[in-house]
Amino acid sequence: RTLRIGLIPGDGIGREVIPAGRRILESLPSSLNLKFNFVDLEAGYDTFKKTGSALPDKTVETLKKECDGALFGAVSSPSTKVAGYSSPIVALRKKLDLYANVRPVKTTIGSSNGNPIDLVIVRENTEDLYVKEEKTYDGPDGKVAEAIKRISERASSRISTIAGEIALRRQKIRSAAPTSIRDQPMVTITHKSNVLSQTDGLFRETARKALAANKFSSVLVEEQIVDSMVYKLFRQPEYYDVIVAPNLYGDILSDGAAALVGSLGLVPSANVGDNFAIGEPCHGSAPDIEGQNIANPIATLRSVALMLEFLGEEAAAAKIYAAVDGNLDAGKFLSPDMGGKASTTEVLEDVLKRL
Ligand code: NAI
Ligand code: MG
Repeated sequence: RTLRIGLIPGDGIGREVIPAGRRILESLPSSLNLKFNFVDLEAGYDTFKKTGSALPDKTVETLKKECDGALFGAVSSPSTKVAGYSSPIVALRKKLDLYANVRPVKTTIGSSNGNPIDLVIVRENTEDLYVKEEKTYDGPDGKVAEAIKRISERASSRISTIAGEIALRRQKIRSAAPTSIRDQPMVTITHKSNVLSQTDGLFRETARKALAANKFSSVLVEEQIVDSMVYKLFRQPEYYDVIVAPNLYGDILSDGAAALVGSLGLVPSANVGDNFAIGEPCHGSAPDIEGQNIANPIATLRSVALMLEFLGEEAAAAKIYAAVDGNLDAGKFLSPDMGGKASTTEVLEDVLKRL
């Protein structure tokens, strides 16, 4: 099988980590029978300064017409508002209908103090309070501001279905290389329907229905109110497998969960739709370390694996995860953010050797 992959380095360390992502794809064992065609694409602040658009039409069209998936590095955002500039990744999510934001958070057995953490947050990416329908008006006692929280059955259903599929797939990848204490896939539905009985109530009810499908009969389904979820996530993160949440709770939970593993340079994500997946490290363009070859490439390497999972290449993904875990467990080639001295290139080479 040949996969066509768009490469969008963006700004800053995006230009250092995306080439590492390309290298690991090119280095997959030939027994997997996977080939890749790469297309270099532009987006980001430098692109905006050069062309007047942070996301040129050509990038979107090429992704739509010529690619199966993509890797997105990071983009810099101007710290003050610049006319005409808007975030390319937000626009891409809309244009390609990437309705799920998937963020795995994982420690390895060797690098964690207690039980390893191995969870995924699956965040709905298209609605909730982020429809940005806000207004301000003068009330009898001063200004009042309001925002719409929109929850639909369709969006809640498809995000829950993808969460169930991820739980099943993780179980498969794990059985190939057991790393977790959990032997049954589990999805935790997160909401606040005790207060917001209609909006979060619809999310909860729809998620329950979607996860009751036959194909999820082996998946344990739990639910948890979002505030106690935060408490338990920090007390006992190793308990969780897949967490599914509406947009706002998912946003907060996923940044919070990333704090559990020590460095932003380790945390991957994917933006996923029915026919497309973009792997994207969670970190930004890191101008403070740009151009020094010391950025941690692991968030990107894991994002590559995550993209492959959604393109149906579980075996290839499992190999990358295992090689990365091997590097972290050995602890010999760690980048400075992990307390080590290795360069981006040295971390990459060690992972490739293990692959
Ligand atoms: P950042 O994630 O770029 O950096 C935060 C800190 O983490 C910095 O000290 C950085 O050196 C470190 N860091 C991040 N990734 C690392 C890696 N792979 N290896 C080692 N250390 C790493 O966030 P910051 O500084 O708030 O934002 C910088 C720029 O990136 C801004 O212009 C911001 O708008 C943009 N940004 C873009 C994102 C995206 O493209 N998805 C996400 C977050 C920020
Ligand atoms: Mg966030």
